[in-house]
Amino acid sequence: RPAQDLAGRHVVVSAGGTREPLDPVRFLGNRSSGKQGYALARSAAARGARVTLLAANTALPDPAGVDIVPVGTAVQLREAVLKAAADADAVVMAAAVADFRPETYATGKIKKKDGEAPAPIALVRNPDILAEIAGDRPRAGQVVVGFAAETDDVLANGRAKLARKGCDLLVVNEVGERKTFGSEQNEAIVLGADGSETPVPYGPKEDLADTIWDLVVQRLV
Ligand code: PMT
Repeated sequence: RPAQDLAGRHVVVSAGGTREPLDPVRFLGNRSSGKQGYALARSAAARGARVTLLAANTALPDPAGVDIVPVGTAVQLREAVLKAAADADAVVMAAAVADFRPETYATGKIKKKDGEAPAPIALVRNPDILAEIAGDRPRAGQVVVGFAAETDDVLANGRAKLARKGCDLLVVNEVGERKTFGSEQNEAIVLGADGSETPVPYGPKEDLADTIWDLVVQRLV
């Protein structure tokens, strides 16, 4: 049995990928499976935490002893995060959230018309949930953790994102064939707002989850 170092704590984890609907049959989405967020939820529960798991479009078995809140879009995820974070000791945003959503939702299926050029899809910005939570902590002393999935200049982009979002920890993972999106494995560097850098070698997503909670526990007041 792991150390019960999250006993008496409430933690919120977001997992999966938001879907932004275009019409009743189509959406803009991403390749997140939710596996990293679910590993975080299982690890926190095993360490004694009360866990709220905000699950965006996942198809994974429910972790035992975890409160699951299903969500669809970024706007719905924001509502769920703000509600759950009100009394949370830590919030970990592992979900891949759409930065933009279609400006309009067509209530009927969009049809192709012979001989006509396809209509462009106008997009509007979604709220940045992580930046909002990190900037305006719903509970004093709350530890806020973000993720960054990057393809280029991974560390430099990660450092810039940590500063921009204002979170305490940022988990930087490089997009690759057998890691990050969809895979059972991951590898990452966890950047701290205090300048710390904790590399986590390639391995099961549970290993990264455990290291993230170790770093969160060190920062809890
Ligand atoms: O689900 P899996 O298949 O296991 O894959 C795991 C993962 C790759 C999805 C995960 O490890 C990961 O990296 N999640 C973040 C994905 C991402 O693309 O993040 P980002 O760089 O777009 O966003 C940075 C951070 O801000 C994230 O914590 C995100 O949740 C948050 N964000 C982003 C946009 C937005 N509008 N609101 C947010 O809160």
